[in-house]
Amino acid sequence: MSYSFDTIETADFRNGMSRLGAAVNIVTTRSAEGPFGFTASAVCSVSDTPPTLLACINRKSSCFPAFEDARFFCVNTLAPGHEALSNLFGGKTAMAERFSAGRWIDGRTGAPVLADALVSFECELSHAFDEGTHRVLFGRVIDIRATDSDAALFYCARRYVAINGAG
Ligand SMILES: Cc1cc2nc3c(=O)[nH]c(=O)nc-3n(C[C@H](O)[C@H](O)[C@H](O)COP(=O)(O)O)c2cc1C
Repeated sequence: MSYSFDTIETADFRNGMSRLGAAVNIVTTRSAEGPFGFTASAVCSVSDTPPTLLACINRKSSCFPAFEDARFFCVNTLAPGHEALSNLFGGKTAMAERFSAGRWIDGRTGAPVLADALVSFECELSHAFDEGTHRVLFGRVIDIRATDSDAALFYCARRYVAINGAG
């Protein structure tokens, strides 16, 4: 038996998803033109064997050509206090200006690693496919740099929610 459903309006979908709180990350890569990065909440674990995560990038993003060609990328998970950095990488600011804020170091893969991220996952692109407006990037995690902080920064209902843990 087949059913037909009315199509959900884009605004309703976006409003619904705004209630789905998520960690905030800056996803970075390095191309011949330099470092690129954007704020992303669409990041999640896929598998621990092999260790794999995914991140979704809008194909209209100014960063997209760099990520399209990249072998490596890094997911840097933000902490309370990183709200301004998140807005900088989540807006239309020029790339060089984005990386002039925060302290960035080169990871093993050459991808920019945020020195005070809660955790950074350096990945080798293992698979990618397009869905709607976005490309889903699957990354095989090849290096992890983690703090032992139990703080967290979430984005929910279009605002930041800081959880300041004891660590
Ligand atoms: C909290 C937050 C979460 C975001 N999550 C994503 C995401 O998961 N994927 C994405 O493509 N863009 C996401 N964005 C938007 C990009 O960061 C933004 O479109 C991009 O940086 C815009 O600049 P660009 O076109 O120069 O890259 C998010 C923005 C914010 C503020």
